[in-house]
Amino acid sequence: MPTLAHSLAATTRASRTVNVPLGDRAYDVLIGPDLLAEAGRLIAGRLGKARCGIVTDENVAGHHLAALEASLRAEGRHKGSIVLKPGEPTKSFRELAPLCERLLELGLERGDLVVAFGGGVIGDLAGFAAGILRRGVRFVQIPTSLLAQVDSSVGGKTGINTPQGKNLIGVFHQPSLVIADTDVLKTLPPREMRAGYAEVAKYGLLGDAGFFGWLEQAHEGIFSYDQETLVTAIETSVKAKAAIVARDEHETGDRALLNLGHTFGHALEAWTGYSDRLLHGEGVAIGMCLAFRFSESLGLCPAGTAERVSRHIGAVGLPTKIADIAGGKANAHELVRLMGQDKKVKDGRLTFILVRNIGEAFVSRDIDEATVGAFLEREIEAA
Ligand SMILES: NC(=O)c1ccc[n+]([C@@H]2O[C@H](COP(=O)([O-])OP(=O)(O)OC[C@H]3O[C@@H](n4cnc5c(N)ncnc54)[C@H](O)[C@@H]3O)[C@@H](O)[C@H]2O)c1
Ligand SMILES: [Zn+2]
Repeated sequence: MPTLAHSLAATTRASRTVNVPLGDRAYDVLIGPDLLAEAGRLIAGRLGKARCGIVTDENVAGHHLAALEASLRAEGRHKGSIVLKPGEPTKSFRELAPLCERLLELGLERGDLVVAFGGGVIGDLAGFAAGILRRGVRFVQIPTSLLAQVDSSVGGKTGINTPQGKNLIGVFHQPSLVIADTDVLKTLPPREMRAGYAEVAKYGLLGDAGFFGWLEQAHEGIFSYDQETLVTAIETSVKAKAAIVARDEHETGDRALLNLGHTFGHALEAWTGYSDRLLHGEGVAIGMCLAFRFSESLGLCPAGTAERVSRHIGAVGLPTKIADIAGGKANAHELVRLMGQDKKVKDGRLTFILVRNIGEAFVSRDIDEATVGAFLEREIEAA
């Protein structure tokens, strides 16, 4: 049985801290193994006397809630836990209202903390609840999916879905601390791990060719939970996101680069009804391959680049083309129509993140629908 000294030594050896430099809202992202057991101490040491209301989902609770509660109780910080149904439909007004009321019933006060303990669904919903509870209480992200550790837990976007679209209601509300325990990823279903990996690869593809090259060599270590490789991949991803968020917190410019693969990806997610047919990260994987092929077809990017990208995305077991989505053939007109509904549309022109090469993405706001439609028709027919 590991002693406390042993576990602290392990933590200091492998864990890393990335600061998100946002002035008086700056915060740290702690990344490493075995951090859950220390969450109480880490929160108490950094955020004062606050007590914590945990929000989580049934899957995460089944594996890890007892450990987090014990860690908070040891510091006298546990106010209560709220366990929600897993899945995207939980990110809704229907779930938000009772969640806010239950947080109030726990007796959370202005100085207390909401702890978002789960994947991106829980992070977005609980973060939004924290943002509006008593006109805003602080919250801590303890992300448990790879996607949440490298993407959704950092940057302060919170919100819910409506029938009109995903993430259309929400607030910018930065967490006060992010604790990414790489050990909790061991219980994540492999398909979810791969989906999260798409967002890791995204940081290389959008701005860091060296990182993409490293991933081509090192990716197996991520999926075999080699701690050094996993922590390095998450740290590099979080650093990339933090730098972009620090430049453009409210997405008036550069932050849009984080949407590489997402305009196509969101249309594919909408087309498949946000169902198990296509996870978000899988849509992003196909979307990134499409963004490279589209850029190549426009003469923006050297021939062969898109092939290198899809070879790597395919090598980790992610889909790379529209035909990889089971259950029926897509329609280019329908996909273009769905892109038009996405909130990344301005003055009727579609905003795309295009690429000049691996690691050289840029925002293009003047792509017309006909050009995209013709490209997608070729993609669907080539299948
Ligand atoms: N706020 C942002 O900046 C941002 C960025 C990207 C994505 N998102 C949002 O994130 C959501 C997707 O996040 P996600 O992929 O984490 O989905 P998710 O929260 O639904 O988690 C995926 C599945 O894995 C389970 N799970 C999570 N951690 C686990 C663990 N350690 N062990 C076992 N099971 C575990 C969950 O219960 C769920 O079934 C979407 O709603 C998306 O819009 C937000
Ligand atoms: Zn994404």
